[in-house]
Amino acid sequence: MSLSFELDPPLTDDLRERVLKLWVDVTNTGGAVGFVPPVTAADVRPTAERSLDAVQAGTDRLLAGFDDGELVALLFVADNGHFLKQHWRTLKRVMVTPGSQGRGYGSALMLQAEAVARKMDLDALQVTVRSGSGTEDFYARFGYREVGRVPSALRVGPGDDRDEIVMWRELR
Ligand SMILES: CC(C)(COP(=O)(O)OP(=O)(O)OC[C@H]1O[C@@H](n2cnc3c(N)ncnc32)[C@H](O)[C@@H]1OP(=O)(O)O)[C@@H](O)C(=O)NCCC(=O)NCCS
Repeated sequence: MSLSFELDPPLTDDLRERVLKLWVDVTNTGGAVGFVPPVTAADVRPTAERSLDAVQAGTDRLLAGFDDGELVALLFVADNGHFLKQHWRTLKRVMVTPGSQGRGYGSALMLQAEAVARKMDLDALQVTVRSGSGTEDFYARFGYREVGRVPSALRVGPGDDRDEIVMWRELR
């Protein structure tokens, strides 16, 4: 593995397109990153642009993982936009490119996110998980525990509602 991370890499048009492509590819192979497959770039673009604009504005952070110059992993460290919630952040859109999943990149990404959060002097990190995806077991490996569950909060299809599982990692 020759993975290297960059926090808030310059958001060139090229990188924006690579983020979009990664997001589409991950969704279309079943990843639970805000959409339901199949999606096109046009479906994801407005959400991706909004997320990247928040990074550009300095509100959120983008942690990007590169392998040989290729974007292979990313997550957003998202501000909660709430005066009383400035001491913690939410990790969003945690994803590894389909061809590189299962090689430890996701683990490296989570450990790097924790290091970033500690540098930001945060008290805690939150992630939310779509029930039925099994991803809560992945996060549990890094000390995240379920602290809440909103029943049927996510409608992924007709007659297919999923719980939104809230997971929390204290850093102090
Ligand atoms: C979840 C994800 C980021 C994990 O990245 P990865 O590079 O595949 O993970 P790793 O190779 O570091 O896996 C570490 C361990 O976690 C396990 N694991 C990985 N993904 C898992 C998942 N979705 N559910 C349960 N366990 C998982 C692996 O089997 C591995 O276990 P092992 O060490 O016993 O072999 C990646 O699979 C992904 O991008 N999924 C699609 C997007 C998505 O759904 N993100 C979650 C949003 S809440």
